[in-house]
Amino acid sequence: MRVTFLGILIALFLGIAECVKQNDFKKCQQSSFCRRLRSLSDRKTNSSVWESPYAITRGLEQLGDEAASYTWKLNNRLAPEGIAFDLAVDVLKDGLIRLRVDESGGLYQRYNQTASYILVDQPELMQASSVKITSYDDVDNLAFQTSTNQPMELKVYHNPLNVQLKNAQSGEILVDINGESLLHMEHFRHKDAEDTDNNSAFTWHSEQPFEDPNTDGLWEESFNNKPDSKPKGPEAFTIDINFPSHSHVYGIPEHASPLALPPTDGSSPRRVPYVDDPKPYTEPYRLYNLDVFEYEANSPMALYGSVPLMHAHSPRSSLAVFLLSAAEMWIDVKHPTKESTSTQWISESGIIDLFLIPGPTIEDVFSQYASLTGVSQMPQEFSLGHHQCRWNYFTSKDMLGVVSGYDSIDAPVDVIWLDIEYSDGHKYFMWDKKKFPDPVDMINKIASKGRKTVNIVDPHLSRDDEFYVFNEASDKEVLVKKPDGQSEYEGWCWAGSSSWVDMFNPASWDWWISLFKFDKWKDSTPDLFTWVDMNEPAVFNGPEITMPKDTVFYGGVEHRDLHNINGILFANLTSQALEQRQEKNSRSFVLSRSFFAGSQRFGAVWTGDNLGTWDHLRSATPMNLANNIGGIVFTGADVGGFFGNPQPEYLVRWYQTGAFHPFFRAHAHIDTKRREPYVLDEPYQSIVREVLRLRYSLLPVWYTSFRENTQTGLPILRPQFVVHPSDAGGFDIDDQFYISDSGLLVKPVVHEGAQSVDVYFAGEEPYYDYFTHEISLGSKHKGRRKSFFADLESLPLFIRGGSIIPSRQRARRSASVMSKDPLTLTIALDKNGNANGRLYLDDGHTFDYQDGAFIDRQFTFKSDRRGWTLTSSEIVPGDSYEDGNEVFIERIEVLGLKAPPKEIKVDGRPLEFSWEDGTAASSNKEDTASLLNIKKPLTKIAHDFKIIA
Ligand code: NOJ
Repeated sequence: MRVTFLGILIALFLGIAECVKQNDFKKCQQSSFCRRLRSLSDRKTNSSVWESPYAITRGLEQLGDEAASYTWKLNNRLAPEGIAFDLAVDVLKDGLIRLRVDESGGLYQRYNQTASYILVDQPELMQASSVKITSYDDVDNLAFQTSTNQPMELKVYHNPLNVQLKNAQSGEILVDINGESLLHMEHFRHKDAEDTDNNSAFTWHSEQPFEDPNTDGLWEESFNNKPDSKPKGPEAFTIDINFPSHSHVYGIPEHASPLALPPTDGSSPRRVPYVDDPKPYTEPYRLYNLDVFEYEANSPMALYGSVPLMHAHSPRSSLAVFLLSAAEMWIDVKHPTKESTSTQWISESGIIDLFLIPGPTIEDVFSQYASLTGVSQMPQEFSLGHHQCRWNYFTSKDMLGVVSGYDSIDAPVDVIWLDIEYSDGHKYFMWDKKKFPDPVDMINKIASKGRKTVNIVDPHLSRDDEFYVFNEASDKEVLVKKPDGQSEYEGWCWAGSSSWVDMFNPASWDWWISLFKFDKWKDSTPDLFTWVDMNEPAVFNGPEITMPKDTVFYGGVEHRDLHNINGILFANLTSQALEQRQEKNSRSFVLSRSFFAGSQRFGAVWTGDNLGTWDHLRSATPMNLANNIGGIVFTGADVGGFFGNPQPEYLVRWYQTGAFHPFFRAHAHIDTKRREPYVLDEPYQSIVREVLRLRYSLLPVWYTSFRENTQTGLPILRPQFVVHPSDAGGFDIDDQFYISDSGLLVKPVVHEGAQSVDVYFAGEEPYYDYFTHEISLGSKHKGRRKSFFADLESLPLFIRGGSIIPSRQRARRSASVMSKDPLTLTIALDKNGNANGRLYLDDGHTFDYQDGAFIDRQFTFKSDRRGWTLTSSEIVPGDSYEDGNEVFIERIEVLGLKAPPKEIKVDGRPLEFSWEDGTAASSNKEDTASLLNIKKPLTKIAHDFKIIA
């Protein structure tokens, strides 16, 4: 009890601060490696002669005969005798390049294990015979083709070292590495070496005399009186990666910043950020998973997750780079010209492991990246419904009250969540039996209403000897160690004095999985799923609210080397635990706060503790878009804002926005007033209910979108540049988005008191207002902005002409009771009178789909001179799953036909229909579209059909 109270006290203490405590977190200048290596760029700018000291000293060698794997010896001519580096280049099967740099024979091995935790497989290499090598003077040229037959060249210039990836067809330089001569890898050294060795770390980069102000911090440093002992000394690296022909860069989440990454050199961003008081960025983007309390809505500061993937884009081509390092990283972005981008990446430790993802189309980039880090897990279908969370629902009665609250207003919800106060003194897995006397009974009661329960399991273990989980972890010696490598590290979190599980220790894996098994965790059922929070890890008394960098993990590895992948290991193992505890082959559902590249394989993530302010509502869309183009598609934000007591208008706008994020969960801080939809007054309650129903009606779209992601790696939320890659007018737009390939375009209303909103329409097709069917026209070359009325009840949602949207229109209480519900097809015609769509269904919770138990349908609507045909055919034949055989189409709406049909038949059977006059898609006019309503075609979804008119 004492611990719980303490936890709350800490929370309240943290809760009184008004905004992010800037001083709790480092600026680049306060981090010795960032300060040292960022300064190279300034020195270069201020220097008349600047030349990279890195050069190849031994030419290309091929490793073995078969595979396209090559090495070079690299030297820094200013470094002390005997220091050398290995440069390795692999040409991967699809045409990606993997470039690695490591110190050869250094005092220690640099950390090189990140790939083994993050990549789906060992990347497959191209056959050496498919790479043509020409070497002349001091350059090696590797010519090869991507899997989409795009000819590429990788040029390795020897002196100074410079690596360029070129599109051999267009001659365009796609990526230029060390073109700015900033590459530097600090070699390991002895602490007691001669002064010159230790003090001149930086002159190893330039022969010019240089009075270095940054010589401190090589062997120890401290921040806010928290020391870092740095036993291995300096080992950072920096690398400049330029995109000479690409004006826009995106990605490297997680930051609360515009999607098109603003420059970090103090110059003005192209897109004026969405906050009231935007300031140009002067700090680099930081990737260091942190629990940033009340983070700013517009800032390059680090947040909870890290995906070191950057997209570069121009109207001509797309590509990406992926720097696979788990250590703290800082990234500068500049635009030397309007058409180009230069970046500098600075990482504290580890090898350089850089992937060049050549594109050239945006689709290629996503599938190439997915070949490295994988695609989304196929989610439990219920998890695409609405989630209601709060810190905290305090008793079983309280929980059941939430369920009946939703039922009392006839609003759907799938999951009710329990935050940390369900547990006995923050000893997760152990329920507080005073408040939750019979957890299984409670979970079952919730399940009997078609709903699931989630509770939280944080990775810090209370050092309480009555806590079996802590005792077992301690006995198994799977806890993180102090810098001495021997004794258990101890820090503070919700549970008071705590220790942390070392998930890098293989001995922890089966043990962690066993904790969730029903024979061990008796107060659990198959209807209980897991939320993994605070897994950055958050440590209240640690430096920057995390663990000291010199704590020791399995194999003697320092926390500094693996920090950013700590969280993903918890999500991974917890997801395995939920899968393995089921008798049936059930999918898991895990929500994780901390994430890294590849987290898509293990469940959902969210944007953490946002504020209940309009700025934060505005930042949610670019943040979720950035996660999506970083491969992490199952993402959302705390609907309503975590902190604060928002006004009803704000809440309504939040529901309208969150309903279009893949993960849709309302959540609130312990200090806030209750704000569940059923406590709202009218008209807000009714508006929110309609939004929730709209979300549920579109569940077939969401589910199909996930299936598509698992096959293509394409994002679910798609920004303008992904859908219209050659329309430069859309490159800076991040406040509207498409849902996968469905054709749905959403423009959330995110300004207080808004009565109208601007929407950007690109491409030649008409767009239909989802509700009124009014047509708006796009524009091929420049896009078109159009203003729409958007009072509180309005939700700007459009269907791009040429799309077929499957939906389920019957209002129900949760997703799990909808699986046999009939479908409606809404067909929005393109200007030639055609449309396409897809529907994917399976049982929504097992892996049977992997054995063919699914329905995957392609719908094609084709007009010709005589009339039109709507065809449904199998995309991939599946042995349809049982419930699927009972699903019918109950209605078909066609928008934008020229004239009503004389008759409509399916299999020779006439169908009833009605017609409302209106504008045809082909007319090129902006007016309400005609509507053909086919009633009760009652065609079985599992079967092929042809409807002819
Ligand atoms: C921090 C999480 O971000 C928040 O969502 C949660 O409510 C608190 N931890 C308490 O568990």
